[in-house]
Amino acid sequence: MAEEGAVPGVENLKLQDGQNPPEEETEDQLITPWEVTSGSQKGVNYDKLIAQFGSTKIEQDLIDRIVRVTGKPAHHLLTRGMIFSHRDVNLILDAYEKGKPFFLYTGRGPSSEAMHVGHLIPFMITKWLQDIFDVPLVIQLTDDEKFLWKDLSAEEARRLANENAKDIIALGFDVDKTFIFSDMDYIGSSPDFYRTMLKVQKCVTFNQVKGIFGFGDSTCIGKISFPSIQAAPSFSSSFPQIFGGRKDIQCLIPCAIDQDPYFRMTRDVAPRLGFPKPALLHTTFLPALQGAMTKMSASDAVSSLYLTDTNAQIKKKINKYAFSGGQATVEEHRRLGGNVDVDVSYMYLTFFMEDDDKLKQIREDYSSGKMLTGELKKELIGILQKVVSEHIERRKQVTDETVKEFMTPRKLKYNY
Ligand code: TRP
Repeated sequence: MAEEGAVPGVENLKLQDGQNPPEEETEDQLITPWEVTSGSQKGVNYDKLIAQFGSTKIEQDLIDRIVRVTGKPAHHLLTRGMIFSHRDVNLILDAYEKGKPFFLYTGRGPSSEAMHVGHLIPFMITKWLQDIFDVPLVIQLTDDEKFLWKDLSAEEARRLANENAKDIIALGFDVDKTFIFSDMDYIGSSPDFYRTMLKVQKCVTFNQVKGIFGFGDSTCIGKISFPSIQAAPSFSSSFPQIFGGRKDIQCLIPCAIDQDPYFRMTRDVAPRLGFPKPALLHTTFLPALQGAMTKMSASDAVSSLYLTDTNAQIKKKINKYAFSGGQATVEEHRRLGGNVDVDVSYMYLTFFMEDDDKLKQIREDYSSGKMLTGELKKELIGILQKVVSEHIERRKQVTDETVKEFMTPRKLKYNY
């Protein structure tokens, strides 16, 4: 979800602002809200990231607890480790068990019309969480952020927010439980959101955001204050129409791990404001088609499968570009087998193939050489064609009227 841009080589480990690299840089991987690169074909080393960010790895006992508490089966993205890290999810479950309310918050930076299949992941998880817990959800569309960071007019950024809202709505969110907002529109209309933002701004110094985000003396002041805007929805005080003025409702944020810097800052200031710290669930990145050294990026047509792609385009891109862990010749492949650890098509199957048994079989057959790369790709092509064409159909049903309903500040179906 971070900024898409041509992903530079690993030798070029600089932030866009050209300022100090933030704390999470290591020799061979760099994860910031603007850039994701890894030095390995296997992709980002997530254990290392957990250690750097100081979050908590999701272990089987937490998964078991979620299943126990909700009585619902675990999502395959959770059991397969794509939701891999968290902060304070135990506190959310404690509250839930005691019948105390909480809410979900996630977001999207509308920098392009075309969302890609990687953008679906955090929203699929958010939808699942809303279904199993039955709680309110707020979705922030940071048109302001994209106006500040990209070469976009305010009008164009605002328009893209609405286009992206359609894609998000198409995932099946319940209008009675979900508020989607554009920063440009909502902030100006909500004194409570603005006051919450101000409280955050008063607590965070330039020095702190320099350290966290790599901002510098020549960063424009819009960017410098933006983290307070992404922080504000973590607090129920920002949405009096939903929470009836209560400021103490806990928040759970499903997001890709690159957004964690914003929420480390948010969690840091929360106690000083008398608000609960938001809990977090972190997801991994969907690798780029050409290999897991980078993530899928909307501005790079060759690395991405868009939610608007035709069946023929999906087939062509996967066959042509998806980095293969297979061997050079059929004979060698039969003898040595494929390497699932670097094979992008296999990695995508772990995200999108729901059937555990089938996935396990494919892993075995591909690794042993029984299954060829072309056959593996064929499985993936079929699944993604279905995912994308169904998405296109559902998106067609989403009218401007529906978008307006989701984006109108209002009470949801919950009472506080
Ligand atoms: N900054 C995010 C992006 O560029 C958008 C965002 C805003 C977000 N609030 C969020 C993402 C909360 C996850 C959770 O895509």
